[in-house]
Amino acid sequence: MNDPLHDGFGRRVSYLRLSVTDRCDLRCTYCMSEKMQFLPREQILSLEECLLVARTFVGLGVDKIRLTGGEPLVRKGLPDLVARLRGLEGLRELALTSNGSQLPQFAQALAQAGLHRINISLDSLDPAAYRRITRGGELDQVLAGIDAAIAAFGCRRIKLNTVMLHGGNHEELPALLRFALGRGVDISFIEQMPMGETGHSHASSFHSSADAQAQLMRSHQLIPSLESSGGPARYWRIPGHESRVGFISPHTHNFCSSCNRVRVSARGELFTCLGKEGMVDLMPALRAGDETGLSDLIRQALAAKPREHRFDLSQAQGTVARFMSRTGG
Ligand code: 5AD
Ligand code: SF4
Repeated sequence: MNDPLHDGFGRRVSYLRLSVTDRCDLRCTYCMSEKMQFLPREQILSLEECLLVARTFVGLGVDKIRLTGGEPLVRKGLPDLVARLRGLEGLRELALTSNGSQLPQFAQALAQAGLHRINISLDSLDPAAYRRITRGGELDQVLAGIDAAIAAFGCRRIKLNTVMLHGGNHEELPALLRFALGRGVDISFIEQMPMGETGHSHASSFHSSADAQAQLMRSHQLIPSLESSGGPARYWRIPGHESRVGFISPHTHNFCSSCNRVRVSARGELFTCLGKEGMVDLMPALRAGDETGLSDLIRQALAAKPREHRFDLSQAQGTVARFMSRTGG
């Protein structure tokens, strides 16, 4: 490898989040609008192109890739892509973020293909609230998916993600924590980020990590931990339990200074910052199969990676106009 990727502020970029589809079988209120326009098939990266993106980034020193969506498991051939990505020399960790609905069917195949870890979204344990937040999701299916993932991967390789929503699930956070502790899996509580005009108010549904911590400390002994998974979460431990409890707090603890990641959308757009509009279109180089051109584009884009972003909850259209489902979470 020549010269590992760094940005203009000296941050080493070692982590790629690659979206394999903008589609999803759910419509979470904080992620999508009720009526979404999805990209036509021909504008989406083929699996070969996904592999080329991954190979190029790994060649530039990226050693961790997370497959995201939309919901990555609605993309046909995902276990096969996982197996092929695992063949990339230099890739240390391959992970997936999923809403869990298809895991009863795919967990085993993904484990066999060599996937290392899965993050599963779980915002509620109440079927009606779950349906409301996801605009139609079936809780039972996701719970079965979580159990299938634990059976296939073991509990230490599974993490739950809960986006905190005031008036949506905030009263349930202790129950969600108990659920994670009972299953022996990690859980991260995530402050909502204002991404796109989702048709719900980002400000009035905002619930902060500080509020959640105060609330959880009433029922659990939370001890701050210095552990890091190399990401934005700050971790806490509960004596007697294996699970780590993370808080991702983009509003109160801006984590930009240690940012090590970039995102590629299913349309081949390279986003170097989650909270900024700018992107570089990799698709022409990808369609031409031009690996050198691709590497050059990536290096140029990284040199211009913004120092930081600030989320503003007050704008209905979000701090950036694109939906989280387009950026890849
Ligand atoms: N704010 C915070 N997290 C979000 N996610 C999706 N949209 C948002 C948002 N607006 C997270 C969810 C899901 C993952 C795909 O992205 O936790 O687990
Ligand atoms: Fe789908 Fe995940 Fe977005 Fe929910 S958060 S709509 S599950 S992509």
